[in-house]
Amino acid sequence: MGCLGHRRTMRVLAISGSLRAQSTNTTLLRAVAMVAPRGIEVELFEEIDRIPPFNPDLEERYAAGAVGGFREAIRGHDVVVFSTPEYAHGIPGALKNALDWIVGSGELSGKPVALMHASARGVYAVAALKEVLTTMDARLVHEAEVTVPLLGKEMTAEAIAQTPEFAERLSASLEKLAESCDGRGAQLQGSQAGA
Ligand SMILES: Cc1cc2nc3c(=O)[nH]c(=O)nc-3n(C[C@H](O)[C@H](O)[C@H](O)COP(=O)(O)O)c2cc1C
Repeated sequence: MGCLGHRRTMRVLAISGSLRAQSTNTTLLRAVAMVAPRGIEVELFEEIDRIPPFNPDLEERYAAGAVGGFREAIRGHDVVVFSTPEYAHGIPGALKNALDWIVGSGELSGKPVALMHASARGVYAVAALKEVLTTMDARLVHEAEVTVPLLGKEMTAEAIAQTPEFAERLSASLEKLAESCDGRGAQLQGSQAGA
């Protein structure tokens, strides 16, 4: 049994490391949702800024709120994709903070994850995020890693999705994830989406 269980639709949670309204990373993930082949659903998680600063002493206080919502969102999806900027050669604090809350609870353990990049820069943050995810026992799907150079282009998600080269790159990445998830990438592509 692969990571889909008996379902035919692969559910992907997309998490951006940027909180900016005009974020290139968030825009990239919105485009990913638009180009998803049939049988793959992509949902953007947009609440990492609601997650309080990590403090293990406050586990009980926050388990039902934003932290609980984040954990539930990850549990409710088959795979997770990340796209993040680099700040001062590191992972943005909001993203690292969110991840710190699930180190102990283990939602990413064994979960297929892939990194998508809105720029070829930010190599320190990418390396750090890979190290963090590996330490959390997530299953990094390297074949699905993809870069779409958006820096300085000011493209909307729609424009990205309508640019054939970019759309193909992104949907190919999702298909690689589907193959890795269940060995069913080709079947997903040709099947009717259904829960
Ligand atoms: C405070 C700050 C620090 C940054 N530090 C780096 C850095 O160390 N390396 C880098 O490549 N880019 C750095 N950048 C640039 C951002 O990573 C880049 O603009 C990114 O594309 C922003 O992503 P977004 O459009 O999704 O918000 C920094 C930007 C800010 C605002």
